[in-house]
Parts: sequence; C-alpha cells; structure tokens
Amino acid sequence: MKQQLFKVIIKEEDEFSIIGEKALIPLGWIKLPCVGNLNTCLDYMQSKWKQLGNVGRCPISFPIQGVDYYRLEIDPLLKELIRSRQLLWVRPPYGDNAWLITNYEHVRSVLRDKRFSRQECPFHNESRLTPHPLDTSIMGLDEPDHTRIRGVLDEMFNVKTSMALKDKIEKSAHRLIDRFETHSHPIDLVEDFVMPFSGLTICELMGVPFADRSKFRIWLDSFSSTTLIDADQVAENMAAMHAYMATLITKKRKKTEGDLISGLTKANEEGRLSDKELIELITVLLIAGHDTVSAQLMSSLFVILSSPDLSKQLRESPNLSTMAIKELLRYVPVDAYVTFARYAKEDIVMGGTTIKRGEAVLPSLIAANYDPDVFDNPEHLDMNRRKNPHLMLGSGIHICPGGLLGMMEIELGICTLFKRLPNLSLAVPPDDIKFREGLQVRSLYELPVKF
Ligand code: HEM
Repeated sequence: MKQQLFKVIIKEEDEFSIIGEKALIPLGWIKLPCVGNLNTCLDYMQSKWKQLGNVGRCPISFPIQGVDYYRLEIDPLLKELIRSRQLLWVRPPYGDNAWLITNYEHVRSVLRDKRFSRQECPFHNESRLTPHPLDTSIMGLDEPDHTRIRGVLDEMFNVKTSMALKDKIEKSAHRLIDRFETHSHPIDLVEDFVMPFSGLTICELMGVPFADRSKFRIWLDSFSSTTLIDADQVAENMAAMHAYMATLITKKRKKTEGDLISGLTKANEEGRLSDKELIELITVLLIAGHDTVSAQLMSSLFVILSSPDLSKQLRESPNLSTMAIKELLRYVPVDAYVTFARYAKEDIVMGGTTIKRGEAVLPSLIAANYDPDVFDNPEHLDMNRRKNPHLMLGSGIHICPGGLLGMMEIELGICTLFKRLPNLSLAVPPDDIKFREGLQVRSLYELPVKF
C-alpha cells in the first residue's frame, strides 16, 4: 500500500481531524495549513492543540460526519494506520475517546484477549458511533455470564440447526425469483429479493411471523443508526421492539413450537436465562441475523454484478466455493468503520503504545481484513484466495454464532439468482447505485437489474 497524504482540519478550537488530502472539507470545519504524511499531520495537530491551551493527547475526531465512507471503499486513514501499524487516539461521535485499532494482529488480539472487556462498557460512557449505547445482549458480556448464555444459545443454534434450514432457504430464493415475472416495475434486488430473503430465513429460524416484517425495517435501521434517525426516535423504536418481543414470548409460552424463540423461552422457564436476558438475546438475534446478512448479500451482489468477469464466471458456472464466500466476507466491508468498543481491564502494551486501564479501544474488522501482512494484494477480490483468516465473523468468545447460516444465505442467494437468471445484469451503470448513509452498516438503497 502506498503512503497516503492527509490534511488537518479544525472545528471550534478543540476539535481536530485528519482527512485524505483530496477529501472535501466537511461543513463546519476549517482547513489548517498542513498537508503531509500521517505523522507530519499528527505532530502539527498536537502542537496546535497545545498552542490553543489544551492539555494531554489530542484526539482525532473519527469518523466525522460529512466525510462518510464512500460506497465500499476503506477510509484512507484506516488504510494508512494498517500500513504504519499505529494505534490512533480518536474522539468518536459519541462517548469516551478511544484507541482506534486497525492492524490485523492487534484487532485479533483485542477480540481474543480477556483483558479487553465488553462488560465494563456500562461503567463508562461507551465509545460508539450510535447516539445511545446499544443493548447488545451476549455481545455485551464477558465470561462467565457470556459462557452461560452463549452455551444455551449454542445448544439450539448450531451447525445442525443451521443446516436443517438449507432446503427452506433455497426454496424461498426460488419463490422470490418466481415472483419477478409478475412484477410490473423493474426488479430491484434489494426490495424484491435480498430483504425478503434474509427476512424469511431469520423468521423461520426464530419463529417470528413474517407478516410482521414491515415493523422490522425501522428497528434494524434504529439499531444501526449513527445519524439517519434522531436519538429520541431510536430510543422509542428500540422500546417498541422489546415490547413486540415480550408479546411474542407470551405467545410462545402458551404454544411452544420447534423454533429458536420457543427453545430460548423454555430455557427461561427452567431458570437458565432471566426475563431481561431472554428479551435482549432474541432482539439481538433478529437484528444481527437480518441486518448483517442482507447488507453482506446486497453488497456482494453489487460487487459481482459490477464486474463483467465475475458475472461471466457465475453465469457459466453458478456455484460459489467456500473459499469464494469467505473472500466475499473479507473483501466486502459490511461495517462502516468499527465494531463494538472494549475497555482495558489493566494496562496493555500494543504496538509500542500503552493502553491504560479503563481506556477504550475501537477495533476495525474491515481494516484488519485489508492488512497486507496477512492478505496478499488485499484490495483485489480473489475468489480462489487460499489463505484467508478474515475477521468478518469476529474471533474469540464473541465469534458469530450465525456465521454458517449467513454464509449459506449468501451462497444460496447468489447461486440461485444466477442459476435461474443467467443473463442477470445491472440495469444502470455501477456508479449510479447509491449507498445509504448515517448507518453503522453499509447497505444500498436499491439494486436495479435486468435479466
Ligand atoms: C454474513 C453475515 C454475518 C456477519 C458478517 C456477522 C458478523 C458478526 C461479527 C463480526 C460478530 C462479532 C462482533 C464483535 O466481536 O465485535 C458477530 C457476533 C454475533 N452475531 Fe453475527 N454476523 C452475521 C450473521 C449472523 C446471523 C445470521 C446471526 C443470527 C441469526 C448472528 C448473530 C450474532 C450474535 C448473537 C453475535 C454475538 C455473539 C456473542 O457475543 O457471543 N450473526 N457477528
């Protein structure tokens, strides 16, 4: 990776940031007379920070509104940090300042090292991109509470239960494609395929009525909203989602079925999960299982359909190897920037920097997946990449329990589309496809196609 050039910008005398040399100056910010490599900009910024009467280490506002990520690109600052193996002291949009972690080895160690805690977050003003700290259920716990709840989940949601859904997932892909012929409007793969496809799968797994799907959309956006939805509205929507889940649990108590919510409700009746743990867990499962899969699938389809070579390959042989799916997970950045914060339980030295006890770290999985020390030619999508220890499903105790299901959906979604519609192609030039903004997850407004 080439060394990048940056410029320093300032807002109201105590807020600094560093953006790519060519990036537009965001509204409300002023450019300072410094352009150079990252370290030149950092030194300049630190001296300016002191000159203005501030003390200590100058935090860099990141990410800043107005310099939103561009489509599926990785922010140039993230790329430069991977290259230089530096930790950067940042001021996120909400909560405590934090160390931004980008290098693969560092990110993996944050995910796996028990000295970094998720459970400490409520004792701080959690570093985050969303206006409210999120109720992340097991994602917010350390051992042993995490082990107990994850153990219950793993009994009911595992390789066997995920594989048992395979036929149903494939059938739902076919059913959605059957309906393409009857649509009067041009087919939009986001609304006419990806969203109902991942919605049907998560509803089937969990035992949620698919007819209630219209409610989910605003809940998914609320969970992931950085600026899209106003903070009070987010709180209201999340309360509505919890209330919906509570009603569903009451129904499952009266009539148990073979689905995940019924199983988890039974575990609650046996005293293995508290009422609060049950509601939070099923809320997070519905969101994580719907939002990440749909975002990953629509962006993967966009990448394939934008590449004449990849589209041709899939037309000629509508199959995707496990290697290819893993590569799509690595290459397609689903998070906009970072995953959930962790707090250091003791002083930890990383890459020559001491992370002090009580300080936060923000690991960037999407940056780690582009680390050239681990992935040859990381900016190239190589469907035959052999060595691919990507982190898109996490690592350590919080490793994604839905990874296999998500990979199955991506494979069956893409392959069924190309098997049924060998002439599938974009109906507009790739540059006209618009990405949504103000969300933690990258997704598209629409993906119009012809076939
Ligand atoms: C391709 C799709 C998916 C991607 C890219 C993805 C990504 C991730 C990542 C990166 C984490 C760990 C985050 C961290 O440590 O900061 C995670 C955790 C989690 N995911 Fe997924 N996920 C996907 C699909 C699913 C599905 C289908 C479900 C459920 C139906 C699910 C449920 C969860 C849950 C409950 C956790 C928290 C696990 C724990 O704390 O032990 N995910 N996911």
